[in-house]
Amino acid sequence: METARFFLNGEPRSLTVEDPDEPLLYVLRDRLGLRATRYGCGQGLCGSCTVIVDGRAARACDLPLWSIEGRDVVTPDAGDAVSPVLGRVRAALAAERAGQCGYCLPGIAMSLAALFAAEPAPTGAAIRAALARNLCRCGAHPRVLRAIARLEHS
Ligand code: FES
Ligand code: FES
Repeated sequence: METARFFLNGEPRSLTVEDPDEPLLYVLRDRLGLRATRYGCGQGLCGSCTVIVDGRAARACDLPLWSIEGRDVVTPDAGDAVSPVLGRVRAALAAERAGQCGYCLPGIAMSLAALFAAEPAPTGAAIRAALARNLCRCGAHPRVLRAIARLEHS
């Protein structure tokens, strides 16, 4: 048994698990009931499970619980008060109806929130790099790009 302590959406959390290698994605979804972080490939490839750790986008399926000890984790469940930039991203995605099935959108929102928090006016190259590992099976990226344009002008 091992206890992990970290911050989750602005609140201190402490969790005791048998296997400290358990991926953060499973901890969020199965132990804490935070289902907005989506399971896609489970191999760090699709971006559906993207969260923000210490300000940087990260794949929750690829993060063992031990690796977030003492760190600050933000998930798509975070309210606008916890992450105002995530609130802006969500509003822009909703305004453009950016999803089709919507499965990829929480991960895309997290990647964009990390980007815009670090760079309020990112270059096209920075936007492409930030979204390079967020796959959309429905091909909704053009609408996502329209949402980004809203963000850039808001
Ligand atoms: S589920 Fe984590 S990257 Fe696909
Ligand atoms: S909107 Fe369906 S996977 Fe992106």
